[in-house]
Amino acid sequence: MNETSIHGMKRTHLCGDLRLSDAGKEVTVNGWVDRVRDNGGVLFLLVRDRAGIVQCTFDKSVNAELFDVAFSCRTEFVVAVRGTLVARDAAAVNSKMATGEVELIAEELRILSKAETTPFEITGDKEVGDQIRLKYRYLDLRRPSMQRGLMTRHRITQIARNYFDEHGFIDIETPMLTKSTPEGARDYLVPSRVHPGKFYALPQSPQQYKQLLMLAGMDRYIQIARCFRDEDLRADRQPEFTQIDLEMSFVEQDDVMEVNEGFIQRVFKEVLDVDIALPLPRMPWIEAMNRFGSDKPDLRFGFEIKDITDIAAQCSFKVFHDTAENGGSVRLINVNGYADKFPRKEIDKLADFVKTYRAKGLAWLKIAEDGTMTSSFAKFLSEEELEAIKARANAQPNDVIFVVADPSWQVAAVSLGALRCELAKRLGVIDKNDFKLLWVTEFPQFEYSEEENRLVAMHHPFTAPMDEDIDKLDTDPASVRAKAYDIVLNGCELGGGSIRIHDPELQTKMFRSLGFSEEQAQEQFGHLITAFKFGAPPHGGMAYGLDRLCMLMAGLDSIRDVIAFPKVQNASDLMMSCPDVVDAKQLDELSIALTRTEDEE
Ligand code: AMO
Ligand code: AMP
Repeated sequence: MNETSIHGMKRTHLCGDLRLSDAGKEVTVNGWVDRVRDNGGVLFLLVRDRAGIVQCTFDKSVNAELFDVAFSCRTEFVVAVRGTLVARDAAAVNSKMATGEVELIAEELRILSKAETTPFEITGDKEVGDQIRLKYRYLDLRRPSMQRGLMTRHRITQIARNYFDEHGFIDIETPMLTKSTPEGARDYLVPSRVHPGKFYALPQSPQQYKQLLMLAGMDRYIQIARCFRDEDLRADRQPEFTQIDLEMSFVEQDDVMEVNEGFIQRVFKEVLDVDIALPLPRMPWIEAMNRFGSDKPDLRFGFEIKDITDIAAQCSFKVFHDTAENGGSVRLINVNGYADKFPRKEIDKLADFVKTYRAKGLAWLKIAEDGTMTSSFAKFLSEEELEAIKARANAQPNDVIFVVADPSWQVAAVSLGALRCELAKRLGVIDKNDFKLLWVTEFPQFEYSEEENRLVAMHHPFTAPMDEDIDKLDTDPASVRAKAYDIVLNGCELGGGSIRIHDPELQTKMFRSLGFSEEQAQEQFGHLITAFKFGAPPHGGMAYGLDRLCMLMAGLDSIRDVIAFPKVQNASDLMMSCPDVVDAKQLDELSIALTRTEDEE
């Protein structure tokens, strides 16, 4: 018999599942050697599998031959151990291990596979560089914390499938090879061999397909859908990611929100045993921007933004005054109770921070515990003007106020919003176990694109405008609000969706507002425009970023940690070494000639 075969040594239990109640049983475990501990004549192999770690004990005085085999084991060897599970002596109980009350007295040991020294330690809390972790991702994934993240993800996915099934949603797959769509992020393209010079695009989301499924009468659709976007990566962005993607027929915004709130409540209860009160709060986009400088406000802490443009217009400090006079905006945050945490040097660095959000400067006012003030601008103001600002900020001793004046109200709001979050993080005022969810609603239908010098759809071109704003589509498009909603968790956009346009006439009007000619609209969206002529139900839906939901629920900082095989910052996969060059023959079959390669750059 092959001596590395599992035959006759198949596990009876998972390592991590063994408990005192199993004592006395004959047990076989299979797993990796996590650690080898040599206690003179007694050797411990700590054996690890997905469920946890159990201690297997080899006593030289009982079986010297078996002891020697155990002695030859190194960490990450794959072994099978058979023996009797016993209760540990009181003195040997390890309360830090779930299996710490028992040990497996080994009677047989088989080495199923040997291991070379791994490039980094699987056990222990030594910091390991990201590059090496991702190059050897299969080793990284052996670590219990990584396994926990993926298990949480599995739980969330299962709950989503069950919940939406119970609510009448059916799971339908949509194509991966599809058509490049304008009005989105950059596409990943796939060349066609059969059609030289033509390309498929990988889907940025199943948006058009799911709407067509509503036209097809499927009524309620769900898909755990892989999406692809060629964007710059961040901690919460990957080039391929997963959505829990939904669409419903014969509904309004409230119906979509209600069914999704039920899902959120269920998933938090079942995964974290956290009770989420419903209905979730709702906040119009404009309020979120004004109070928090963000369309995904983090409600776990205060430091809200206040507008002082009216006071600034009257004051004698030129920066404030001129900004306000010329139609700009002057806003502040009060980081109340933390003035002592901001020495002058720190404040100067914060000015650089807000500059990355296009603010031109950062004015500040500090009130010491005894009421004395220091400030970059107070000397330019009268007593009354200063008092008015302090009153607006509700300023008390030990408060520090930061002010941004900018021609654009959005720059003032967004830079202070970013500062607000950054300072909350630095000051450690955020409770990691706090989950603050809300809906952000009434998004603008359009936003201005500097790159294209025109209005573009903030969500996508199929989003329905709010009924009361339809009349303004032609006259004042910038003020039109959409039936769009995002669900936000702790300052992160967890998901978003909208009610869609189902009236072909309104859709045509929308394309016109977006600056598409009739021909352009036909060329790019003709299939949809035609489809809507044959009876379209009112419909709407949304999509969650599954990776983000998993990251936040697992208490992690990057979606990479809940994706088995993620890409790094420059969108490459370090383990598979891709993207990679391909054979000249492959390129030739695809009728592709390269004009530039990475190596030449
Ligand atoms: P949207 O583009 O807002 O909407 O995407 C929905 C959610 O997907 C997540 N997400 C991402 N997660 C990781 N990496 C990325 N690069 C990434 N991009 C987006 C976010 C986001 O909220 N079809 C519409 C939904 C609809 O209208 O029904 C859509 O895709 O959590
Ligand atoms: P100055 O008069 O340029 O020396 O600026 C005086 C103070 O106003 C400094 O603290 C600057 O950082 C601040 N400041 C300058 N421009 C702005 C701005 N656009 N918004 C807020 N503060 C500013």
